[in-house]
Amino acid sequence: MMTSSPALTSSAFAPLPHFNRPTFLMCPPEFYDVNYVINPWMAGNLHQPSRDTAFMQWKNLYRQLQRVADVRLLHAREGSPDMVFVAHAAVVQHGVAAVSSFAHPQRQTEEPHLRKWLQDAGFLLWDTPRETCFEGEGDALFDANGGHLWAAHGVRTCRHSHKHVADAWHTRVTSLHLVDPRFYHLDLCFAPLAGGYLLYFPGAFDAASLEKIEAAYEADKRIALSELEATQFGCNVINVGRDILMGLVETDLAKRLMERGFDVTEMPLSEFQQGGGSAKSLALRLSDSELALGAVEV
Ligand code: ARG
Repeated sequence: MMTSSPALTSSAFAPLPHFNRPTFLMCPPEFYDVNYVINPWMAGNLHQPSRDTAFMQWKNLYRQLQRVADVRLLHAREGSPDMVFVAHAAVVQHGVAAVSSFAHPQRQTEEPHLRKWLQDAGFLLWDTPRETCFEGEGDALFDANGGHLWAAHGVRTCRHSHKHVADAWHTRVTSLHLVDPRFYHLDLCFAPLAGGYLLYFPGAFDAASLEKIEAAYEADKRIALSELEATQFGCNVINVGRDILMGLVETDLAKRLMERGFDVTEMPLSEFQQGGGSAKSLALRLSDSELALGAVEV
């Protein structure tokens, strides 16, 4: 009798995709809107985003990212208004993509489209069971040397998915517990940066999680955000080497990053913030995290 196959799927016996340059995937906001409320930011913003402004802001981010990385594109689909936040649909490392099982049916419609794109591009797919929700780079981020995965639970992603996801790369995983519904994804309160730095908002985590973070990152490597900065999506940044791309934050956060050697490009991303996300959630990393964050002295 055939036993059920493991979670890995590959289209052929072809070599896994390999990148020499940091590479990301983006999805244009063709059908983007706030059509429902699945996070506190969306409440009060139903149908508020302007599609024209969203397009302008997205194109600006796309161009800025193209300066420092290769950017591939996924076609947007009608009926999946949050598909623009493509970072939540998977986590990719070493050519293996752990694909998401979204918690809300509204976002589950995105799954087959990204799955197909990744499969056609030659990635090995590692499925995550529906019973244990998992929301990709929204809740799981590799550190700068790629040997350690940080994964969050508490709102969208189930804790039980963490070990399963980490097994895709036989990597070490540390679970973090999110306790503030405004920071419903890890990418809203935690960002490993090049040079071994960490951007984070302590108020989003329980005490045990904070201890784990503080044990892993020395005090001089931790850049703690204020509540105001965190609510202006200051952790939701894209980092490639010295470059940081982010939405507007009305404090000296950019200056604090520049003092540590980063080149910061801030840009308006207001339309996406009405849906609960900013720069990082608009780009899924396809190349290894080491290529974007590791081996870079800032
Ligand atoms: N509306 C999307 C959702 O709630 C927004 C995602 C953006 N979120 C983020 N983690 N930055 O799933």
